[in-house]
Amino acid sequence: MCGIFGYIGKSKDAPKKVFNGLIDIEYRGYDSWGIAYPEKDSFKIVKKVGFLPKSFDFPSANLALGHTRWATHGGVNEANAHPHSDCSEKLVLIHNGIVENYLELKRKLKKHKFKSETDSEVIVHLIEDEYKGKLSLKEAVANVFKRLEGLNAVVVSDGLEIVACKTGSPLVVGKNSDGFIIASDPNAILPQTNNLLFIEDGQMVSLSSSLEYYEIADLKKLEPKFIEVAWEHSSATLAQYPHFMLKEIFEQPQVLYNQIQDLESIKKIAGQINKAYGTYFIGCGTAGFACLLGVYLFSKVARKHVNFSIGSEFNYTEDFLTDKSLLIAISQSGETIDVVEPVNAAKRKGVQIVTISNTLGSSLYRLADTKMLLQAGPEKAVASTKAFMAMVANIILLGFALADKLAQGVSIIEKSAKEIEKVLAKSEEISKLALIIKDSEHMYILGRGLSYPLALESALKIKETSYIHAEGFASGELKHGALALIEKGTPVIVYVPDDETKGAVMANAMEVKARGAFVIGVGFADGVEENPVFDFFFKVADCGASSILPHVVFAQLLGYYLAVQKGLNPDKPRNLAKSVVVR
Ligand code: G6P
Repeated sequence: MCGIFGYIGKSKDAPKKVFNGLIDIEYRGYDSWGIAYPEKDSFKIVKKVGFLPKSFDFPSANLALGHTRWATHGGVNEANAHPHSDCSEKLVLIHNGIVENYLELKRKLKKHKFKSETDSEVIVHLIEDEYKGKLSLKEAVANVFKRLEGLNAVVVSDGLEIVACKTGSPLVVGKNSDGFIIASDPNAILPQTNNLLFIEDGQMVSLSSSLEYYEIADLKKLEPKFIEVAWEHSSATLAQYPHFMLKEIFEQPQVLYNQIQDLESIKKIAGQINKAYGTYFIGCGTAGFACLLGVYLFSKVARKHVNFSIGSEFNYTEDFLTDKSLLIAISQSGETIDVVEPVNAAKRKGVQIVTISNTLGSSLYRLADTKMLLQAGPEKAVASTKAFMAMVANIILLGFALADKLAQGVSIIEKSAKEIEKVLAKSEEISKLALIIKDSEHMYILGRGLSYPLALESALKIKETSYIHAEGFASGELKHGALALIEKGTPVIVYVPDDETKGAVMANAMEVKARGAFVIGVGFADGVEENPVFDFFFKVADCGASSILPHVVFAQLLGYYLAVQKGLNPDKPRNLAKSVVVR
């Protein structure tokens, strides 16, 4: 999703630094980009639709602002790409978020010339009016920011100074000997410096030869608190892999081993769940399916009831929260706004917050009372794979910790890691299956119990990478509607683990077969693989309650190969973003 990167300092290489910074955040997803730098008395703005080029003719300047845009207000075109400028082109602005009252604000700007359809451009024209009224840039920005509704991060420059402020959307400043960097993603700053200032909601920074930090409300000066972070720059490289998605899928056995190194956080969070009067899991997309899996797993392994809500729906049910509730937010990026917002609301009610995230220093990480870092390493492909693996492994460990059987949890995770290595070694089989079904329009995935969230996640992987319409079902629901959609040759994946769901799910396999489906079985249940109901069977050894881990690798690889065989880039699905920071 939209990315911000700016530089001001002694170096004359500002445009080059900004270009490289944008490359570092491009994995978050975007459809157009732009860079602005001062030239004579105004700004030169370069904007393009599509992805950043391999190289760029870098002019010399000691200040530049860059942006990668993921369209919300206004189509994908050069005019709508950021940076945006005021009428005189003396002010430029880059923006993340959505100005919810922009139409109302725009109505008051009749004399201004608008070049785009965006909500963002409204902000720079509002600032222009204030700035022309002889206010300083920071006063002008603060006055305007207070009028914006919604969650926004705004970065503005007049060519001499950069002023930035935020609510909701992340912004981080890096400081080194030659100047200041401002970005929406700390990872993009790490190649330059580890000395970071996380701008908090309602605060503003002004960068020139020095840094000043303020409260937006009254421009009261604050003491900036830089922290020296000890993380590695996450410039994950492809190594020998053609795509990040494949690389990340193949890293998963190691990701599982990483999860069982230090079990202290697991024990601590299990203790909190035991004490809480109501535990709620929230997450979005893949992380949401990991949460749903938690509901099934905790009930099966620990006889413990927990609640789950998709992040964006949680505000509608939050009335149940009290200061005795526990909210467990799961998020790879730690920035998903649909999770950050309800966590903020819950925190105001005194709810204890646990964050399970892959991103140190992210908004959710900083909001949490108890923080667990997924040791999955940087995940760059938009479709989440290894982060899901780490999330599920921790949910399994939590379930077993709650049942006082943590050692058993560790042992099935180890077994799953070994089984995943075998699945990866058989990836060629999955590639051949992809060739058979790649022209299908629709695909259905069935599972019961623990395999129901797995079916949902499998469908998500397939649809986001291959654009084939894929739907996951609790297979008992088949007869309540989806069976009507099965035609001759429709691929249907059926998860058959060696558990209590086997008999019923096999019956569902028969039902789709009788309607002409091309039935693909995944799992292990003695002899099941020889059952003629299956047109294709992918055998995976039983790993007890963690069989979902090797099973999901099947779906990840299938999604990957379907994309590649359809000539699509699995790392950057159309219209999707890695980090979703707008509602
Ligand atoms: C986006 C990504 C998904 C991810 C979801 C939640 O939609 O494309 O892969 O599962 O956001 O992201 P999070 O960072 O909160 O796990």
